[in-house]
Amino acid sequence: MRSHLLNDATAEQYRRSVTEGVERVAAKLAATDRPFTGVTVDALSPRIDEIDLDKPLHDTAAVLDELEDVYLRDAVYFHHPRYLAHLNCPVVIPAVLGEAVLSAVNSSLDTWDQSAGGTLIERKLIDWTCARIGLGPAADGVFTSGGTQSNLQALLLAREEAKTDSLAKLRIFASEVSHFSVKKSAKLLGLGPDAVVSVPVDHDKRMQTVALARELERCAKDGLVPMAVVATGGTTDFGSIDPLPEIAGLCEQYGVWMHVDAAYGCGLLASLKYRDRIAGIERADSVTVDYHKSFFQPVSSSAVLVRDAATLRHATYHAEYLNPRRMVQERIPNQVDKSLQTTRRFDALKLWMTLRVMGADGIGELFDEVCDLAAEGWKLLAADPRYDVVVQPSLSTLVFRYIPAAVTDPAEIDRANLYARKALFASGDAVVAGTKVAGRHYLKFTLLNPETTTADIATVLDLIAGHAEQYLGESLDRAS
Ligand SMILES: Cc1ncc(COP(=O)(O)O)c(C=O)c1O
Repeated sequence: MRSHLLNDATAEQYRRSVTEGVERVAAKLAATDRPFTGVTVDALSPRIDEIDLDKPLHDTAAVLDELEDVYLRDAVYFHHPRYLAHLNCPVVIPAVLGEAVLSAVNSSLDTWDQSAGGTLIERKLIDWTCARIGLGPAADGVFTSGGTQSNLQALLLAREEAKTDSLAKLRIFASEVSHFSVKKSAKLLGLGPDAVVSVPVDHDKRMQTVALARELERCAKDGLVPMAVVATGGTTDFGSIDPLPEIAGLCEQYGVWMHVDAAYGCGLLASLKYRDRIAGIERADSVTVDYHKSFFQPVSSSAVLVRDAATLRHATYHAEYLNPRRMVQERIPNQVDKSLQTTRRFDALKLWMTLRVMGADGIGELFDEVCDLAAEGWKLLAADPRYDVVVQPSLSTLVFRYIPAAVTDPAEIDRANLYARKALFASGDAVVAGTKVAGRHYLKFTLLNPETTTADIATVLDLIAGHAEQYLGESLDRAS
């Protein structure tokens, strides 16, 4: 069994084994003509169930054959131009190379003595991101597993900085279309059930600052304590960007921590054309960025950044065996002092490889392309009488609903849209997402693939219309 351990003696076997796997994946990617096969849970489950994990095959090629059957054939492929569903980007090759390197070397970024250069690379990327945001000379941060963890950590710091004698009094203000991780964080942080105040949005799905001011005022009048305002720099559904400068002004006025959740909109930090859309982010106390959404990085790759490095102390604990207090005096950089995690992947390497091979402008160019594509898609939808489209995109999502000419019952229209999404998924021709707007079912394109064309969008709209009409036709037959 020692032959399976990766070490000096098995370097050649490592090369062969990984190359074999890479070749299978490369062949798969080259041959994928649809984002999904449409496989059902019922069809796939027995194939996985019948595998006896206590009976290994002892042969890499045979295991890769098996993997084709249980995973590769029927996976959902984000690189395909008609994968238009969630916030998953196609990944850039330098980052995938970074992934291969980091898992083989397997550094752990908690302490200097488990990573050495990895720690310094991560710190340099954090500094780079802080500078792109404009957070100032005292800024710092750390890589995390994703936007959810970044938001949690930012709100933990905000909670610790808030002045209160009772957690029950703390309030977080976030727009009604902010990410659900804000509410989840409030719960994990021990805040009360009413801790998150939902601030209404305007027609463009941006937080209404008049309403925010009113809520902050009410909070003070009620003897409650404003803990944080979470401004979203790119909402999950609409890509809408809250008015950051106005929100920053209110946060300064009321002495409240400003967190910007730019999990999605962080791609603008590299943009050559649209950087100004996220202006005001530099006034935040903390920022979430998800490189795995708009920097074309493989999952996971995210960071939380703070204006004042000292606030990261709220996540610091010392263990004699790992990061004893004396190491701080010795100026040994232990990233665990800033992180919610202990053992932690060297995800930063993927971004490092990307910036070193392609440069930030390369990433920005790709992100600009998907923003431009969304603008074109919006024009298509707005001109198409079959569809109602919700907001003009600031980033790269489109939320819309098929409106059949002959049907007025909104519940029936809901059902037609739900059916169309499911039928499209089952066909594997395209994958789209769905959401609710004002209680009604809508469909969503999240456009993160620069290879997607307006022709793809037009084709998928026709496919959706076809499925919806089929549903309505069958529904009429059922009724008669
Ligand atoms: C605005 C926003 N914030 C946070 C998150 C959570 O990020 P993750 O899925 O990386 O935890 C998302 C995910 O879609 C998001 O859109």
